[in-house]
Amino acid sequence: MIVIKTKEEIEKMRKAGKLAGQLLKYIEPFVKEGVSTLYLNDLCEEYTQKNGAVSAPLNYHGFPKSICTSINNVVCHGIPSAKEILKDDDIVNVDVTVLLDGFHGDTSATFMVGSVSEEAKNLVLRTENAMYRGIVEIAPGKYLYEVGRAIEKYISRFGYSIVHDYGGHGIGREFHEEPYVHHHYTREDAIRLKPGMIFTVEPMINMGSSWDVVTSREDGWTVTTRDGSLSAQFEHTVLVTDKGMEILTKI
Ligand code: MF3
Ligand code: CO
Ligand code: CO
Repeated sequence: MIVIKTKEEIEKMRKAGKLAGQLLKYIEPFVKEGVSTLYLNDLCEEYTQKNGAVSAPLNYHGFPKSICTSINNVVCHGIPSAKEILKDDDIVNVDVTVLLDGFHGDTSATFMVGSVSEEAKNLVLRTENAMYRGIVEIAPGKYLYEVGRAIEKYISRFGYSIVHDYGGHGIGREFHEEPYVHHHYTREDAIRLKPGMIFTVEPMINMGSSWDVVTSREDGWTVTTRDGSLSAQFEHTVLVTDKGMEILTKI
């Protein structure tokens, strides 16, 4: 069942989304060569608490930290660690989700550490573009698959691949609600969008020709590209409005 949010719920989702956006903006200048991903985690945890919210990833299905940090060939769900030090030429996705007054806000961005290769830079910029290509399709009366279709149409020209195993999701009182949002075209997403629906758009794009991914057998979380290629991701939480859409996590 897809929850249609009421006016009051939308107001709370705006606040949660705004805080998540602010948190991502807050952490950006700390994403530098020489810092550990645990340091970023701890700063985010502190900021979230100071703002009266809870880090939704912490203990979510047993996830051990407050944010996800996914470096280079890590697609998503990377676990922050003191041993993991950012270095020049890394790309790292920082994914934050806050729970504020009963509602979730979820957003992520891939940051470039030091001077990254032209190839990696292109991947990152094009992944962000892909997310926006999907988001601008969102409007009442349209089908959800327009999102994945637009992303696929844009991405196909670069020879990259769109991860199929993880998608966007409805969000509200629950971290992950219906609908599941594919980032490629599929009739499974033949769902009419209605005002008051809220879901994320969060494409994961692999530089290689394969979208295949592997989950770590050691920690049960870290998802990497099977072929070792770089992967980038951006995410926003988006509301379907009467006229179109509103990005709740945009600052
Ligand atoms: N923030 C991720 C998403 O965009 C989910 C992370 S789940 C966790 O849906 F358990 F790894 F935190
Ligand atoms: Co999400
Ligand atoms: Co997220």
